[in-house]
Amino acid sequence: MANSFGNKLKPETLAEIEKIIPRYPQKRSALMPVLQAIQDDQRVISNDAIEWVVEKLDLQPINVLEVVSFFPNYRQKPIGKCWVRVCRTLSCALHGAYKVVDILEKELGCKMGTTSEDGSITLEYAECLAACGTGPGALIDEDLFENLKPDDLGPVIAEIKKRAAGGVPTPTKG
Ligand code: FES
Repeated sequence: MANSFGNKLKPETLAEIEKIIPRYPQKRSALMPVLQAIQDDQRVISNDAIEWVVEKLDLQPINVLEVVSFFPNYRQKPIGKCWVRVCRTLSCALHGAYKVVDILEKELGCKMGTTSEDGSITLEYAECLAACGTGPGALIDEDLFENLKPDDLGPVIAEIKKRAAGGVPTPTKG
């Protein structure tokens, strides 16, 4: 029986997927962009989504699962409405990233590596965001915030709370 997961996707996502697949000489080569389109739509790659992609691209479940589990950008657990990723690589760490994290955890009520109980905020570490000279840096959804200062995080915290309260999550490309 055909998996009905496709019915959960927005029509524009389905249309995008139908455009993505023929761009590749082999259907299987469309796997990563198709997964990204699904994640942007659903904010998670569920088991139903994996089964649907298997059928859609004529793959085996392991072909999809190994990609989803290997690349950290693909999410098998849902992300909060606001997804915060703080760089902890050397340059940012030396410039106070861990102090920034302590404050964010306290002010947002969300422990690093988790999603807040109300599902509004996911707080995670990231590796180098290619903004080493202006660290500490963090991605708030897809937007890079630089020069985070532990004693001046008010505007950043306000931005996170504003996004977390909003109803329209941003895409999850990372
Ligand atoms: S070390 Fe943080 S952006 Fe490069």
